[in-house]
Amino acid sequence: MIDDKHNMPRAETLQKKILVIPGDGIGPEVTRWGRRVLEAVAEKFGHTFEFDEALMGHAAIEATGNPLPDETLEKARQSDAILFGAIGHPKYDQDPQLKVRPEQGLLRIRKELGLYANLRPIKLFDELLAASSIKPEVLQGADILFFRELTGDVYFGEKKRADDNSWASDLMIYHAYEVERIAHKAFETARQRRKKLCSVDKANVLESSRLWRSTVQRIAAAYPDVQCTHMFVDNAAMQLIRDPRQFDVILTSNLFGDILTDEASQIAGSMGMLASASLGDGTGLYEPIHGSAPDIAGKGVANPLASILSAALMLQVGFQLQEEADAVWRAVEQVLRKGYRTLDIADKHTENNMIVGTDGMGQQVIQQLVHA
Ligand code: IPM
Ligand code: MG
Repeated sequence: MIDDKHNMPRAETLQKKILVIPGDGIGPEVTRWGRRVLEAVAEKFGHTFEFDEALMGHAAIEATGNPLPDETLEKARQSDAILFGAIGHPKYDQDPQLKVRPEQGLLRIRKELGLYANLRPIKLFDELLAASSIKPEVLQGADILFFRELTGDVYFGEKKRADDNSWASDLMIYHAYEVERIAHKAFETARQRRKKLCSVDKANVLESSRLWRSTVQRIAAAYPDVQCTHMFVDNAAMQLIRDPRQFDVILTSNLFGDILTDEASQIAGSMGMLASASLGDGTGLYEPIHGSAPDIAGKGVANPLASILSAALMLQVGFQLQEEADAVWRAVEQVLRKGYRTLDIADKHTENNMIVGTDGMGQQVIQQLVHA
């Protein structure tokens, strides 16, 4: 293939197998657009992406009784990357007694594929400065990359419940190797960025956090060019809103990362804008950080940009296709610049939004991408 701009043969084209797991709620509506964007990129840049689909979560429970059917796991292992939508259904939220639950599917696939590092970039498109409930002057220029540990902590520690229901417990446990491997990834990435890493824990109270902190301190010695600081999670929750620009890379545990990244989504305007990559040593999984949003599912109003940006992360991190990923980012930027908004990112201060639904937004991005 010839690169028009430089009139030179382009780097070789890729052949990849992508598994799409739409999941529950708004998952299928938004993931459709993540997939369409990948198809458009393949066509434009001459790659061959082969797609397959599989079930997970409530959709899988309904069809097979299992939130992560063997077939899905098998397909996942054989793919080069996974594009995932969302998981969860109100039925389970209202009934905590139910033993088989959609979220088990997601947690198990993370564990089975060894996806221990969850990258959650928080970057605000300038066009969305007014969409956030935080003041623009506090937000402008904020650019944070979370490394959330994803296969340890209280999520996976032993769970117990007394037969008479008088108590229950979840074990918060970390092994040093679990902290080491994600710390290395986070420091290496910080090196490519602004060379600042803030490790977030609760070492003033929790033993597992003290292990976390001393392990990070030890690893930090190998990266003297990266400035490493430590912060308690309660303070971090406050600092994120007070002055998000102080952060570059934030490294934290599974539970703290879950909570802090939902909070940080407000820095990017909406949960509907945030993509994530879950990485281990093999196949990576790319997904929006938002949930299944049952309240708006099926209404055609969900923002597909988080899925589209997850597809961009797949191109960048999974396939090392930086130019292709940039093309998707630019297309999203252009569409926002033209004023197209889903409801969640509407500018509350003006009447000039062009409000579109899921499909309207998806189509705009595809058009921009194809015609750029
Ligand atoms: C996330 C989600 C999941 C988590 C749920 C759906 C299990 O909130 O990816 O942030 O808690 O990790
Ligand atoms: Mg979460």
